[in-house]
Amino acid sequence: MGLTFKKTYTFAVISTSYITLFSTGLIVVLQFLFTEFSWLFCLSFAVSIALFSFFVLQYRVEHFIYRRVKKIYDDVSLLDSTTLRSQSITTDMATLTKEVKKFATDKKLEIENLKVREEYRREFMGNVSHELKTPLFTVQGYISTLLDSGMKDKDLRKKYLERAEKGVERLIYIVEDLDMISKLEMGDLNLDFTEFNIVELIQNVFDLLEMQADKKNIILMFDRKYNKPIKVFADQEKIQQVLTNLIVNSIKYGKENGSTEVSIEDLVNNKIIVRVRDDGEGIEKNNIPRLFERFFRVDKSGARSEGGSGLGLSIVKHIIEGHDEKIYVESEFKKGSEFSFTLEKKE
Ligand SMILES: Nc1ncnc2c1ncn2[C@@H]1O[C@H](COP(=O)(O)OP(=O)(O)OP(=O)(O)O)[C@@H](O)[C@H]1O
Ligand SMILES: [Mg+2]
Repeated sequence: MGLTFKKTYTFAVISTSYITLFSTGLIVVLQFLFTEFSWLFCLSFAVSIALFSFFVLQYRVEHFIYRRVKKIYDDVSLLDSTTLRSQSITTDMATLTKEVKKFATDKKLEIENLKVREEYRREFMGNVSHELKTPLFTVQGYISTLLDSGMKDKDLRKKYLERAEKGVERLIYIVEDLDMISKLEMGDLNLDFTEFNIVELIQNVFDLLEMQADKKNIILMFDRKYNKPIKVFADQEKIQQVLTNLIVNSIKYGKENGSTEVSIEDLVNNKIIVRVRDDGEGIEKNNIPRLFERFFRVDKSGARSEGGSGLGLSIVKHIIEGHDEKIYVESEFKKGSEFSFTLEKKE
């Protein structure tokens, strides 16, 4: 406070001395020119003093404020040395004001961004523990029962151990998906681009999922015969994961005795589009925009036997976008859904 007072005081003293010096000099000069009283003398004096004081005050105040603000700005900018370094030193009031404004807006955005991320993190932690809890308690439940009483009954023992194993499998599945998601979200995608035949890859996924589809009597098929290979340029393993997630969904949310049809079509600009179509339960319109969010499930209760953890589609989206390609979804409630994505074609 004392320092501020002294500084403004000095400022006033210096400004006053300027004005006094000038007006005294002026009086001397004017007296020399006009020896007796004259209105013209008074007028000239008033105009000159007014003009001079105006410029002195204007210049001094601007300089004063500018120096103070610049100092504050420089001090604050130290917190963020990148902004400081990338900008040239400001030379006038207008640029400084603009920069301070920009600085404030940037900081506000940064804070908002951090808040969103914090919220995101909290939600993520909540979801993860929620997802892990159910299978973990299942496993714990069966093991405790076994230890308490079930050891002697051979049949019961086998049954409980099998159920506990199922719980462990589920835990492994969730942890693997979480691991994948965090890698993808850290931008740690490490795509390994190669040229491969997409028809063959789809057929492989069909073969791997055949048993699962058979349980619901769902047929996995192509829309037509693909006699010639269709070569694409992408990360084969990751695209296999995409196809697996989409086809598993088409089975999980497909109807009994239904079908899943995959088609490959040419698109402009050396691209192909792969479509995975089912005639299952479909998705209501209001849920479609949220499908690719992690942990999003249409049926939140998890009571449904088919319920997953809601990570499958967000993994799919990350992988496709990591390839700089696009993913689309169309769905009609109770009729079926179609998920499609583009890939780069290799002639
Ligand atoms: N083909 C589909 N038909 C109908 N609904 C679907 C289809 N694919 C996805 N959904 C809905 O979108 C939700 C999110 O799908 P996603 O694959 O991300 O998660 P999930 O299948 O529940 O779990 P996860 O794949 O992690 O095991 C699903 O819970 C389901 O409600
Ligand atoms: Mg899924």
